[in-house]
This record gives sequence, structure tokens and C-alpha cells, in this order.
Amino acid sequence: MLEINALAKNFGGLPALDGVSFSLAQGHITALIGPNGAGKTTLINTITGVLTPDRGEIIFDGQDLVGRKPHEIARRGISRTFQNLRLLPTHSVLDNVLCGLTVKATSSFAAAMLRLPGLRHRERLFRLQALEMLDRFGLAGKAAWPLAALSYGEKKKVEMARAFVAEPRLVLLDEPVAGLNPAETAGIAVLLQQLRRAGHTMLLVEHDMELVMRISDQVVVLDSGRCIARSTPDEIRTNPLVLEAYLGKTGRAA
Ligand SMILES: Nc1ncnc2c1ncn2[C@@H]1O[C@H](COP(=O)(O)OP(=O)(O)OP(=O)(O)O)[C@@H](O)[C@H]1O
Ligand SMILES: [Mg+2]
Repeated sequence: MLEINALAKNFGGLPALDGVSFSLAQGHITALIGPNGAGKTTLINTITGVLTPDRGEIIFDGQDLVGRKPHEIARRGISRTFQNLRLLPTHSVLDNVLCGLTVKATSSFAAAMLRLPGLRHRERLFRLQALEMLDRFGLAGKAAWPLAALSYGEKKKVEMARAFVAEPRLVLLDEPVAGLNPAETAGIAVLLQQLRRAGHTMLLVEHDMELVMRISDQVVVLDSGRCIARSTPDEIRTNPLVLEAYLGKTGRAA
């Protein structure tokens, strides 16, 4: 579904992505792991058009996404969550999820003036869709709450509900369980598995190895902007290059 070819991105002459290549299969959870600063978020930012890579291709459904604007990429069906939450704190939980449906709202001001009943119907449909997604995340009862009244774990779920609400073809999750307790993490694991069974394709950036090993079909490992391994979770666990990348980093940090 998605093919990354020789992707490179430099910041001030330092490579954040250095010739990364891998592909993502439809209906799978592909985990993207690697030590801090490996380039994982940079990769998500290039796929979503927030950053333009210096070289390489991002082929989605046979077309290169490089150079396309973020809203166009979102319209093609790629959504994401952020490593640091990006939500509207003073708006309701429901409004935050509705934001995920703006990719589907094509109406111009003129259309809004001319086809008001149709739009109202559409708005009702959107609200229903957002409520259904909130229900899936166990938050329908708090739809009218201001976002700020929710716990951190609940906010993470709202972001995920926003990412999944528009029936995207691919969801990029940047550390969905970071900062969550074990019970919340287990809840997210179950939800991600349910969403996978429902046919969703995901790229999961995560430091929680237990979660990665448990729910992903394929694991891609980045280290200093390079792809050092792509394999099944079982093979990754014992891959000497991967162990060296993690232990080496820990050793240097210590
Ligand atoms: N906007 C930017 N300007 C300059 N340097 C950047 C920028 N974004 C990322 N970098 C650098 O690129 C490298 C990769 O960063 P990135 O955020 O992609 O890592 P990461 O794998 O997501 O790390 P983490 O696990 O800590 O989230 C780092 O050295 C980082 O300092
Ligand atoms: Mg990151």
C-alpha cells in the first residue's frame, strides 16, 4: 500500500533520514521502532507532507506523495496522531473528533448558502460518525465534556478517535501509549487489534516493546536515520544489529 524508497532528510546538514526504504502491507500493523532521535517522527512528517524530503519517494497507491500538500495527503486517506497531543483544549471532546472529518467536508461557502438542508443532514451524519468512534474508545459518555476535563490517557484516545473517524486508508500513530499506565496501555492494545481486524492499516511508532511485539505484523527498525532491520517481531527480538542499536545507545547515554 505504501512504499518508501531511499528517503532522505537533512536538518542543517545532519541526516535525520538517510536512505530509508521499506513497504507497508494493507491490513497490517507495521511497527516503526528505534532509539530516540532515530528519525521516526521525521518519517511520519515526510509521509504526511509536513516536511519535504531531500531525496526519495513515498509511493501511496502507485503515486508519489513527495511535494504534495498535507491537506491533499490527508484527503487521499492518510491520517495521524501526534507524539505530543495536538487537540483543542477548550472545545468539547466531540468537536475534537469532528475535526478529523474536515477532510470529508468539501462544501464551499456558496454551497453552504444554496444547499443548507443537505449540509445539515451531512452535519448530523458527521456527528453520528464521531459519536460512534468515541463509543469505540469508551468515551461516548464524555462527548460533551470540554477536552481539558479529560485525563491524559483519555486525551490520547480522543486523538486516536480523531485519526480513525474519517475511515482513513492508513493511520500513522506516533507513540500512542507514551505516558500511559499499564492498564491504559493494555486497553489501547485491545483497541488497536480490534481496529486492525476491522481492516485498518497502521504504522505504529512506539517505544513500548511489549506492545510492539504483541500486536505488530512487521517491525521496521531505524537507527540514526537508517533502516537497520525489517522483519517479524520474533526475528527482531534476537537481531544483533537491533540489540546493538538499543544497548549501544543506552551505553552511551549512561
Ligand atoms: N525540525 C527540526 N529541525 C532540526 N532538527 C530536527 C527537526 N526535527 C527533528 N530533528 C532532528 O532529527 C533527528 C530525528 O528526530 P525525530 O524527532 O524524527 O526522532 P524520533 O525517532 O522521533 O525520536 P523520539 O523517539 O525521541 O521521538 C534528531 O536528531 C532531531 O534532533
Ligand atoms: Mg518521535
